[in-house]
Amino acid sequence: MSREKGDRPPLCPGAREQSAIAVAAGLAVFLATTSASAGEVAEGRRLAAQHCARCHVVSEDNRYGGIGSTPSFRLLAKAFPDWRTRFETFYARRPHPAFLAIEGRGRLRADLPANAHPVVLPASAIDDLVALAEHIRAQPDPRPASDVR
Ligand code: HEC
Repeated sequence: MSREKGDRPPLCPGAREQSAIAVAAGLAVFLATTSASAGEVAEGRRLAAQHCARCHVVSEDNRYGGIGSTPSFRLLAKAFPDWRTRFETFYARRPHPAFLAIEGRGRLRADLPANAHPVVLPASAIDDLVALAEHIRAQPDPRPASDVR
């Protein structure tokens, strides 16, 4: 099948998002292999408490916090074989691009809704958040909720 120039169908939003994730994943791999800097768990924890905990359960400290429909960091870090990629590229994955940007890797969209709480994090935040996820992954599972009084 041949297609005339200018006859190309518009990219659907899903396709655009997929390619953004692919680009971000490639960039993350590039950065991971070219920089030796390891993230700081403590800084990851601080960032998560400040910027992620309003939606995600990020630790036992906000076990009953977050938004119920949003996956906890423990689930994300432990249940997914590709957890590292997910944390390295979270800013390109929905819903984050709607309110969050990483310095030097794209910018916040101009048409943020009035109720958005915009966040711009330094590039080093990625390593710190990945270090936190790695740390969470290494933790033993906590007691089931029925044991907690
Ligand atoms: C406004 C709410 C909100 C905030 C704030 C937020 N997230 Fe999320 N995040 C979500 C939701 C909702 C999902 C699940 C999206 C889905 O399942 O499609 C998610 C998914 C993820 C995922 C998995 C992505 C994937 O595609 O599997 C990671 C990793 C993640 N978030 C990391 C973070 C980090 C790190 C922060 C803080 C810097 C953060 N999130 C802040 C709402 C939020």
